[in-house]
Amino acid sequence: MTTRILTGITTTGTPHLGNYAGAIRPAIVASRQSDADSFYFLADYHALIKCDDPQRIQRSRLEIAATWLAFGLDTDRVTFYRQSDIPEITELTWLLTCVAGKGLLNRAHAYKAAVDKNGENGEDPDAGVTMGLFSYPVLMAADILMFNAHKVPVGRDQIQHVEMARDIAQRFNHLFGQGREFFTLPEAVIEESVATLPGLDGRKMSKSYDNTIPLFGSAKQLKDSIARIVTDSRAPGEPKDPDNSHLFTLYQAFSTPAQQAEFRQQLLEGLAWGEAKQRLFELLEGELGEARERYQHLIEKPSELEDILQAGAAKARRIATPFLQELREAVGLRSFRNELQSTAKAKKKAGKSARFVSFREQDGSFRFRFLAADGEQLLLSRPFTDPKAVGVATQRLATLGADALELRADEGNQFTLWLDGECIADSPDYDDVNARDAAMLRLHTAVATLAGA
Ligand code: TRP
Repeated sequence: MTTRILTGITTTGTPHLGNYAGAIRPAIVASRQSDADSFYFLADYHALIKCDDPQRIQRSRLEIAATWLAFGLDTDRVTFYRQSDIPEITELTWLLTCVAGKGLLNRAHAYKAAVDKNGENGEDPDAGVTMGLFSYPVLMAADILMFNAHKVPVGRDQIQHVEMARDIAQRFNHLFGQGREFFTLPEAVIEESVATLPGLDGRKMSKSYDNTIPLFGSAKQLKDSIARIVTDSRAPGEPKDPDNSHLFTLYQAFSTPAQQAEFRQQLLEGLAWGEAKQRLFELLEGELGEARERYQHLIEKPSELEDILQAGAAKARRIATPFLQELREAVGLRSFRNELQSTAKAKKKAGKSARFVSFREQDGSFRFRFLAADGEQLLLSRPFTDPKAVGVATQRLATLGADALELRADEGNQFTLWLDGECIADSPDYDDVNARDAAMLRLHTAVATLAGA
């Protein structure tokens, strides 16, 4: 069973070393695990909530996309896309908005902080609060639920949003699922070891503190910002305290245990801060130098980036489009064209005939069951990646008819169904060969009734 991991980065700024160590690097590492099915995206709809400067949004999308790729994100393995290229996400946002409690959203930290600040300033509680800010957690829930993510790596400030996504998912499942869990309940994942990289002044590295180390400036810019790291005033030769030095913390975040032990020892022995900064520079340059070149190349060829992201969007929509279709149907947004058919179907069901029932698995694949008139399950298909292929296969079986069915009994007490040389479905495991053969006959009979339907 694969684990679906999903996370997004809001595209309002230029990524810095803290974003890399805290989010991008661990995400790329996680995506390489064999059981990981990763969805990483640029949260550019979220960016619009915080920023009304189009140029800045566009630049940031480009820079963040290039950063992921420069560090070796393998877009064949992961699904990498821009949120705004998936219109299903905004549509799902509306379906979720209609089940999300206003009271739930009133409790969101970002909204509450804005209200509190207005209170302090004697302003109207909602002054300057847009509906975008208020509904931010619903959009984020749509990001996560659209792809049924199991794990959502985020910073601490986002845990509440993931919990809200769970709440909203549960509510939707309960109201419209009819026993089926449309949405997986996501879990927030916090990477303890990397969550807080200190900035130049020792506070959390953050654009709002202006204490960041740029990722892809020139080597000289890297050196200059390292020179600005605040240290204590101990002179060269005096022992330094690594555990109270954020320069050492920064070094730790990018080095092996052996390198760390050596650096610690040298600091204890009185290494000058200037020397220590040079060491940190060399370490970071080693980690970033190559990626910087790839980054520059990508930034200079934005149309290549566009192609990669378009391909990512197409891949994401292969999941989003059919899933949203099911959700629309669940809430009652159905085609009138199928109206007659579905009443006919309902009648048929009442008259009990054999039928195919298709469904979607947790892992995103699609299957069908073939049920006899009395509801007995005769076949369970192998997984299909494309829901259309399920429709094509069941349609063909229905039209082929009973006599053209290719069934193979295996050594055990099961049989399989083959179509065009491919095994597409399995029977249940019967108690013995006689029971199996009887089931094969029942299958023939059931398929025969389809042809006449
Ligand atoms: N709100 C997140 C942040 O600012 C970014 C984000 C948007 C996100 N949608 C998401 C993160 C879905 C995880 C999952 O950090």
